[in-house]
Amino acid sequence: MQAGAKDRKKEERSIDYLRLFPNEMHMDDLYVEPRLQPIPKGALADRIALVTGASRGIGAVTARVLAQAGAQVILNYRSKGARAEKVAAQIDADGGKASTIQCDITVSEEVGSMLDQIQREFGFLDFLILNASGGLEKDKGEEYSMLLNCWAQLDLLKKGLPLLQRQGRVVFVTNHLAHFYGQMPVYPGYEPVAIGKLAGEKALRAMIPQLATRKVALIVVSGDMIEGTITPKLLNRTNRGLIEFRREQAGRLPTVEEFGQVIAEAAADPNLQSGATVYVGGTG
Ligand SMILES: NC(=O)c1ccc[n+]([C@@H]2O[C@H](COP(=O)([O-])OP(=O)(O)OC[C@H]3O[C@@H](n4cnc5c(N)ncnc54)[C@H](OP(=O)(O)O)[C@@H]3O)[C@@H](O)[C@H]2O)c1
Repeated sequence: MQAGAKDRKKEERSIDYLRLFPNEMHMDDLYVEPRLQPIPKGALADRIALVTGASRGIGAVTARVLAQAGAQVILNYRSKGARAEKVAAQIDADGGKASTIQCDITVSEEVGSMLDQIQREFGFLDFLILNASGGLEKDKGEEYSMLLNCWAQLDLLKKGLPLLQRQGRVVFVTNHLAHFYGQMPVYPGYEPVAIGKLAGEKALRAMIPQLATRKVALIVVSGDMIEGTITPKLLNRTNRGLIEFRREQAGRLPTVEEFGQVIAEAAADPNLQSGATVYVGGTG
């Protein structure tokens, strides 16, 4: 078969696969369920937030929104220090308070050192935003998604819990493919990540009673594919047409700004009960 014809066949197969998704949800407006309270200006003054994976994308925007509401934000990154510094400098320039901290959350000793440093510099945490994720890295092996998306999240929460203030909030950021894993099909190539993230969500939820003894709440925020981000672009290489298909199906995709805003609001909304899941974008 000619290379072009082969490619076309591959594309058709991908689209057929994608059509397995029921087409129920259109987003005339950004769909967020349950509706959240906007964060009043200055409401988070004197609060301290650690956002993992804040060197770019969704984590960076979440940190910016929390800082705009007055929180002191600590931007965790794994390797992209210069990028994280740039995000922090922009937050500072806009009148917020931000600092950066390096830590590969899959390395338990680094997690310990990061938390020690936070304790020395800030004393406590009000918000722990578990945003860092991955698992599509080619060089890391099959077990890496489970290590990063499950065990590392649990390790960070267990070690960080003594630092969390009473009424503190933990937010686990996930996506619909992982949150609904087993109930809806997953794009080829993404399954290990979906399995790891769902395992992570379940492991964190199992901590809810322990968190409650310290009046700390866990909120899960699950998003549809987010417009312009790297993960869908990577998936689009092996599932051609994926982004366009999902955009068309849902009406539109949430932007990074919208998703980050919701994650910050979910952290700050006092009406959300521990264990609540906030959905952003179409779930159909
Ligand atoms: N993108 C989407 O379409 C989408 C949709 C719904 C939900 N989400 C969720 O939103 C979250 C963020 O996604 P994203 O697309 O913004 O991710 P991303 O662009 O791939 O960014 C990942 C961030 O995590 C950091 N990171 C990766 N491995 C790490 C580790 N071992 N230790 C510490 N930090 C690590 C990276 O740091 P370095 O840059 O320093 O390496 C980077 O800051 C994820 O939980 C994802 O599941 C994403």
